[in-house]
Amino acid sequence: MHQPVFDDITVGTSPLGRDTRPGSPEEADAVATAIALLTGPFARVDTSNAYADGRSEEVLGTALAAVRERGERTTAEIVTKVDADPRTGAFDRDRVLRSYEESLARLGLERIGTLHLHDPYSVTTDQAFGPGGAVEGLRELRDAGAVDAIGIAAGPVPLMREYVATGMFDALLTHNRFTLVDRSASVLLEDARRRGMRTYNAAPFGAGILASGATPGATYGYRPAGAALTEWVERAERACAAHGISLRAAALHFSLRSPLVDSTVVGVSSPERLEQLVALRDVVVPDELWVELEGLGTAPSPLSDGEDAA
Ligand SMILES: NC(=O)c1ccc[n+]([C@@H]2O[C@H](COP(=O)([O-])OP(=O)(O)OC[C@H]3O[C@@H](n4cnc5c(N)ncnc54)[C@H](OP(=O)(O)O)[C@@H]3O)[C@@H](O)[C@H]2O)c1
Repeated sequence: MHQPVFDDITVGTSPLGRDTRPGSPEEADAVATAIALLTGPFARVDTSNAYADGRSEEVLGTALAAVRERGERTTAEIVTKVDADPRTGAFDRDRVLRSYEESLARLGLERIGTLHLHDPYSVTTDQAFGPGGAVEGLRELRDAGAVDAIGIAAGPVPLMREYVATGMFDALLTHNRFTLVDRSASVLLEDARRRGMRTYNAAPFGAGILASGATPGATYGYRPAGAALTEWVERAERACAAHGISLRAAALHFSLRSPLVDSTVVGVSSPERLEQLVALRDVVVPDELWVELEGLGTAPSPLSDGEDAA
């Protein structure tokens, strides 16, 4: 039962365990998904202290314990993130250390390989980098050997560029901004490349329309896609269909083929979705399709980082 472990895809778990109570059938389903992710073909599982109010990490911890109990081994490493205090919004050194300890307890781990600073929107960069700030906490953990690598994981490109420019981080996670629809993170990924950082590109489907297709109510980057983007996506779907390829496959391979991306972070909500992802990874996208998709022109992304902190 030896299966290949691929590190070009990281599986994401932001909704894992949402609305589940310990011991409920819903939790059992979530644990089954987590076991599939932890013993599956992809080398990393992405979570955070805050996902599903901590339930994502708790469910992963329950799954890890179940795998160990069976005497089996996991194939995937868990990457998590420190988050602001959910009650007060505090995001300083002390909160970073507490967040890390909470994550270890929920996951049942003694250490974490990669720990990201997640969505630091409740503090200014001066606060984050100042004495007693969040970055001090992360650096302490790395200096002590409690983590191997520290990363910055957030959305707005200008903010992310500020973090990257400090040279203090080993890894970067950007989301929804390097896809078929939105390329605004290209410059950020180039910055990170120049600095030798590991790059994660999350949400290759824009968390919606590039997986669902142009359906009513479709979203991009956690907001309504809007008529203009929906029309662009319809044209992209037709171009893909003419080559016998799904839009979903093209969206995934847009990220996988980029030399700017080390690992693409895809949300996986069930064991079936995991199987579908493995099949999508195997699709070969013909070169002509990339030319045709470029020929559709710039897609109207609903994200605009000036006003957006999602
Ligand atoms: N700031 C950050 O650090 C940050 C921000 C965003 C994301 N992330 C990470 O990146 C991960 C991925 O982001 P994401 O999940 O928001 O976006 P995503 O991976 O672009 O898209 C996930 C969506 O695509 C759908 N989908 C996936 N495979 C599908 C298939 N084969 N057929 C139909 N629909 C499919 C899923 O539907 P179903 O729900 O029906 O499966 C889900 O709605 C997150 O889970 C998280 O780990 C991190």
